[in-house]
Amino acid sequence: MLTAAHGTDEILSGLSQVVDASSIILPDRVKLLDPGLDDHNLDAGLIVAPSSVDEVRALVSWCATESVALVPHGGRTSLAGAATSQRGQLVLSTSRLNKIIELDEASGTALIEPGVTLRELQLASAEIGLSPGIDLGARDNATIGGMVSTNAGGQQSFRNGVMRHRVLGLEAVLGNGNLFADLKKVSKSNEGYALRHLLIGSEGTLGVLTKISLALLPVDGDKATALVSCRDEAAAVKTFQRLRAQPGLELLAVEFMSPGYARITAAERGEEATLAFEPDQNAVFLLLDTPLQDESILSETLLTCSEHEELSNAIFAKSETDRAKFWAIREDVFLTDRQYPDSISFDISLPVSALPDYATAFAQRTGNILPDLKVFTIGHLADGNMHLTISCGRPVPDLHDQIRRAVNVGLAEVGGSFSAEHGIGIEKRKSLRENVPAHQLDLMRSIKQLFDPAGIMNPGKVL
Ligand code: LAC
Ligand code: ZN
Repeated sequence: MLTAAHGTDEILSGLSQVVDASSIILPDRVKLLDPGLDDHNLDAGLIVAPSSVDEVRALVSWCATESVALVPHGGRTSLAGAATSQRGQLVLSTSRLNKIIELDEASGTALIEPGVTLRELQLASAEIGLSPGIDLGARDNATIGGMVSTNAGGQQSFRNGVMRHRVLGLEAVLGNGNLFADLKKVSKSNEGYALRHLLIGSEGTLGVLTKISLALLPVDGDKATALVSCRDEAAAVKTFQRLRAQPGLELLAVEFMSPGYARITAAERGEEATLAFEPDQNAVFLLLDTPLQDESILSETLLTCSEHEELSNAIFAKSETDRAKFWAIREDVFLTDRQYPDSISFDISLPVSALPDYATAFAQRTGNILPDLKVFTIGHLADGNMHLTISCGRPVPDLHDQIRRAVNVGLAEVGGSFSAEHGIGIEKRKSLRENVPAHQLDLMRSIKQLFDPAGIMNPGKVL
């Protein structure tokens, strides 16, 4: 057995006996790769990219015997540090497990390998008029394996559910070396405890996904898109509620942007003019998609919202270029970082009804911590999922605990969550310990022990 803090050479000599040389990416090549959304994702310096389930099994068994930690990687778009690695560990990349094995048009299902990106699956399924029913800004890089592992959500979740609701079946190599095989293609299957749901959202801490079966949905047709401004969160929630209650109007996306976020992002993109329709610099924005055939009813309903003073102003996209501009302001989420590089981020959810009161109380709490604390918010309003980026323009590590508590306080009481769709990774472990009862954490540790007795699967993440 290798001892703790294995050297790269030591790992390499053992590794070359269990996986094909073509599956190993050596340190000099790893250095040239993009680490993704966390600078520490590739700190291990060594990557194995298996090309078959058998190779994954051989690798996991060897790692368990030799006590080498494995960090599974998909598209490296985790915003919670779930893919960070260290020297002495091995990154397992799913980049070569990237086949779309089957698209079953009649059943509306897909069988794929985990390294397929969301965009690849969207494009391939669109050719038969179907869609994965899930969409998010990182679609070009995020892999379906990573999205299942983090139980990703995004902008369509309020209508189609999160990743957990799209998965019909899984195949995985568990940390204990066993092949977990449950590749259903049906939504109705109750065969004892739903173990696949433990793997979904476990962030690579229980095993490595090797195949995924998904339910597909009809692809969305052409869309009407409106950018709407409201006085504050309460008015935005009222606007949303009126739109949702409007018979004959189907909402495809209801995205939220705080004024600071929207104005900075638009300015960084050189598109201040897009937001010039709203002179009030404190107004919040909603980005709405509906089917194109619902455009006139959307417009009439927005007029009613404005008569009730829920909505301030609105503009419609007149072309695909306009649509792309509106959406780019919403999805170019890292542009505020240029002005506020020392920010900290949160990913919360709460019932939409509780959002206005939370926003008011939260503004008071942050004001009490530091008057110049800035909060940039984007979110998926329809399911109450808000992403907060908080900064005062300089590093304030001493205040992180205080800020975290100011974000999390009261969420559980209203039925919300401190961790909505980005996962726990390393970033939210403190929040997990502070918010989940000790006996439930013990249960999680016991489950981890059963799936991964050697503790090799993505150690230090989640728990
Ligand atoms: C988004 C990512 C940050 O909603 O979840 O843009
Ligand atoms: Zn999001």
